[in-house]
Amino acid sequence: MPRISRGIASYLRKKNKLLPLLYRDSRIPELAEFDLRSLKEHVLQREDLKNSPRRQFIYLKSLCERRARAEPLEHILGTACFYDVEILSGRGALIPRTETESMVMRLCDDLKNYYFVNGSRRNNMGKKFRILDLCTGSGPIALLIAKQLYDLNLPYGFQVLGVDISEPALKLARGSLEHNIRSGALPEEARRDVGFSQGNVLSPKESLHGGKSDVHDDITSFFTHEDRTNNKPIVDVVVANPPYVSASGYWEDTDRSVRLYEPEIALVPPEERPKSIQDDILREDVFYPTIEEYAAYFESKAVVFETGGDKQSNRIKSMLENRGWETGTWKDFRGIHRNVVGWRKESGWNWLPLPSKDGISYD
Ligand SMILES: C[S@@+](CC[C@H](N)C(=O)[O-])C[C@H]1O[C@@H](n2cnc3c(N)ncnc32)[C@H](O)[C@@H]1O
Repeated sequence: MPRISRGIASYLRKKNKLLPLLYRDSRIPELAEFDLRSLKEHVLQREDLKNSPRRQFIYLKSLCERRARAEPLEHILGTACFYDVEILSGRGALIPRTETESMVMRLCDDLKNYYFVNGSRRNNMGKKFRILDLCTGSGPIALLIAKQLYDLNLPYGFQVLGVDISEPALKLARGSLEHNIRSGALPEEARRDVGFSQGNVLSPKESLHGGKSDVHDDITSFFTHEDRTNNKPIVDVVVANPPYVSASGYWEDTDRSVRLYEPEIALVPPEERPKSIQDDILREDVFYPTIEEYAAYFESKAVVFETGGDKQSNRIKSMLENRGWETGTWKDFRGIHRNVVGWRKESGWNWLPLPSKDGISYD
């Protein structure tokens, strides 16, 4: 790593002697100052250090040293802000990204403005609204959707299930659920309405219980059965931010901090692909067709995917179209086609690609 020039080091030191440490990883003075403010706030919350400025400083310095070694701020603080929920943060899971936050808010705004637009639409559902978040990680998508749907006060309620292969990630997800109930961001009923389940999305082995796989069985048993069709519940929307980075992109395009502190399994799909996935599908794309199969099986009206950008979005869009979905893309705040959305023609969800009414869209 290049050394910090004397000029910038003395400029930063004049402002605060801990700033040069925080500048080491980001190399952006404003970010270093932001980190310092956040770490100071964190230290001030420690009751046991309240009466000792000296111990507060020693602790703050130790946190700045961790940050200087590229440890993410969210890991040091223990939480990441994700719009209006907080997600526990640690080595077991990816830190939720701003792009994902925008995707969830756009979906929720669109549901509010185009789908649950009036009381009769809400009542006509006659059943709980169901969302499946595959590759949920520490649960940011599932928990933020839950928070937004509680605000809509749906007469029949809703259910959200997050599925992930990683137990450490799920431990953070379940902890995040409790954390948000304790803080009052989510009501107690969230324990009933939001679930997290462990499973390998890529290996749908035949089930003994009549479903397609253990994951299918877990999904079936989580969602209530009042509208059984062929013994399986209907899932309204499948949303996913799966691993989508290529093996070479992982080494060439990701930051050192990501490689050091976030699990590779969260970013790069495995080398071994499911038998059902054709050989010409790129390794970085393998999750999408598999996830589409869940949406088809559970007769979803819509799918919402996060992708790595324009080229991957194009490939995923074509894959969905070949499988009979209507499609669109959403741009992120950098103007990159970051999300692919698909809906069934007969579902009436053709509002899905329309711009968000509350300013969350960048198209
Ligand atoms: C890109 S991260 C997304 C995490 C979270 N949804 C978010 O948006 O921050 C992908 C997640 O997929 C999970 N994952 C990887 N392989 C999986 C598999 N075969 N089945 C289920 N989940 C898997 C990882 O553990 C990781 O949590």
